[in-house]
Amino acid sequence: MSGLADTKRYNRHLFICVGSTCGGSKGANEMFTMLKEKMREKGITDVLVTRSQCFGLCRASPNMVIYPEGVWYSGYRESDLDDIVEQHLVNGKVVHRLLDKRREMIRQL
Ligand code: FES
Repeated sequence: MSGLADTKRYNRHLFICVGSTCGGSKGANEMFTMLKEKMREKGITDVLVTRSQCFGLCRASPNMVIYPEGVWYSGYRESDLDDIVEQHLVNGKVVHRLLDKRREMIRQL
């Protein structure tokens, strides 16, 4: 079973897109590393963070999604990572300014 995550110890799963549009000049690869470091500093051990390829939402890149809430954050920047960690991952509150607006409209139909 080596190489497989022990999913029982995680309460959330955060997928961060590092596909060609979200990565590269949008910096998703670097922000993945920064996010993991910020989580380590906060002692967050119950969130599994996984790099992913294209979500099909490149127009709003970079993108990430957090489950089980199913919250999609788009167009986030390095300066938003503290709020994602503190507000969402620590306090369980959505960072509304980073929500993908088109996906939220679809969810409300
Ligand atoms: S490369 Fe990230 S959504 Fe397409």
